[in-house]
Amino acid sequence: MYEFLHPRQDNAAPPTVQLKSLGRVMAVTSGKGGVGKTFVSANLAAALTKRGHRVLVLDADLGLANLDVVLNLYPKVTLHDVFTGKAKLEEAIVQAPGGFSVLLAGSGMVEYSRLTPEVRDDFQRIMGSLIPQYDIVLLDTGAGISDVVLFAVSLASEVLVVATPEPTSLTDAYATIKVLATQQRRQNIHTVINQTARLGDGRAITAQLQQVLDRFVVTEPGRPIRLIHLGDIPLDPSVRQSVMRRQLLMQSLPGCPAAIAIAQLAAKLAETIIAQANLLSSSSSQNPTG
Ligand SMILES: Nc1ncnc2c1ncn2[C@@H]1O[C@H](COP(=O)(O)OP(=O)(O)OP(=O)(O)O)[C@@H](O)[C@H]1O
Ligand SMILES: [Mg+2]
Repeated sequence: MYEFLHPRQDNAAPPTVQLKSLGRVMAVTSGKGGVGKTFVSANLAAALTKRGHRVLVLDADLGLANLDVVLNLYPKVTLHDVFTGKAKLEEAIVQAPGGFSVLLAGSGMVEYSRLTPEVRDDFQRIMGSLIPQYDIVLLDTGAGISDVVLFAVSLASEVLVVATPEPTSLTDAYATIKVLATQQRRQNIHTVINQTARLGDGRAITAQLQQVLDRFVVTEPGRPIRLIHLGDIPLDPSVRQSVMRRQLLMQSLPGCPAAIAIAQLAAKLAETIIAQANLLSSSSSQNPTG
């Protein structure tokens, strides 16, 4: 069905980077831009909050941040002020309309779209102090495989790749997954197929991507890449409507098909990633010596 997904086999040994994952952090990323990462991050956060979880969304799209636009927020203090030492981390955390916390990048972050050692250190330090305060931190990253995007993803314990059924989005998703598997040695990668036309399309697309990865990406023996299909979000005119009104879909039109799909995604995440993380932390607190 998706015959354009026929990359050449590549046996070159890729450079690997050390994962710096610090806890329950999920990076929401994509190959191609404009596929719905920010929409998914914000509305998934609202849906998880509604289920009783403590959630923070960090605008990790440092160069082209726009989570503030989607959420209609005008923060006085941003991540930029924290990075430059002008404000404390607590001062930059704002409450979004959906009841979750957000840390916005701010326009000054353009200078951070280059990955310097200082950016790496600042980012890691901030993540280290944020994580213990939340059940899950969502990183709304930029698209593609730039250094900044890959670094932000490397801080996350889980990766969610958002793609649409368009051929360009799928070939870019393949390229991103390949880089994450080879450079970051990731085995499990979650997928969400957004803007689907029919029920079941997303699962078929993820299966197709899996086949191509199995065939063309060489991984270490015993470490195959496993795509975990979290769900589909249908193409729904209500999404655009809510973005135009700068409202969360989960609040303004909670009964529309895309909002129902996001609520299902939240339920799946709560049952898997968040539940597993809670289990791990409760077993380590009962047995602190390990
Ligand atoms: N399920 C959907 N149905 C209809 N339209 C959608 C859907 N999901 C996203 N869109 C449209 O796509 C636009 C882009 O979404 P969004 O800004 O979340 O993408 P992005 O991946 O974060 O982009 P960027 O790569 O620039 O950060 C939205 O403003 C909305 O109009
Ligand atoms: Mg975005």
